[in-house]
Amino acid sequence: MRIFIDTAEVADLKVLAATGLVDGVTTNPSLIAKSGRKIAEAIEEICALIPGPISAEAVASDYDTLLAEGRFLAKIAPNVVVKLPLTPIGLRVCKALSDEGTPVNVTLCFSAVQALLAAKAGATYISPFIGRLDDNGQDGMELIRDIRVIYDNYGFETQILAASARTAIHVRDAALAGADCATLPPAVFNALYKHVLTDLGLEAFMKDWEKTGQSIL
Ligand code: G3P
Repeated sequence: MRIFIDTAEVADLKVLAATGLVDGVTTNPSLIAKSGRKIAEAIEEICALIPGPISAEAVASDYDTLLAEGRFLAKIAPNVVVKLPLTPIGLRVCKALSDEGTPVNVTLCFSAVQALLAAKAGATYISPFIGRLDDNGQDGMELIRDIRVIYDNYGFETQILAASARTAIHVRDAALAGADCATLPPAVFNALYKHVLTDLGLEAFMKDWEKTGQSIL
């Protein structure tokens, strides 16, 4: 499963890129607002930092402007993925951009039939929001499992990008359910390394090593 980072904070991305484990980045209007950056500048910088797919979200509510925004964002760098909302207009623009060869990430997906429509519209990625479904008293992971079955039933190539992940358990369950990618806030990515037995085990090894009086180099 590929791991994307869900942030527009370039400083955080620089640190995480150094791990060699980051395959891409997703942003959204809220994350751009939080960063305080101009979208085009932030996306250009992120695209130069991380060679994988970088999602940049278009925001217009009419077809022509949404399409123009998508084309504008796609021109920022070759690794831009245009992010579009799962609305009738969003999916029309998804079809138009996909037909032009621009990869699209359809976002704000909360049902399996929405994901079916996005695949039919040629989306490269579908972003089901696990955490927000859980917050709403539903089972976010069930949605990932349902989309996996539907896409496999019909051979859709749209990739499932598990979004709104809040915990390492979400990441484990998305991987078990066959999500192609997951996008994680930096804190969730960092939590993937953690296990108390790793920390305790390392502490014990280091204590014993000290007793040997050796050094490897
Ligand atoms: O980028 C989309 C998604 O990951 C948002 O997550 O935590 O705002 O529900 P969240």
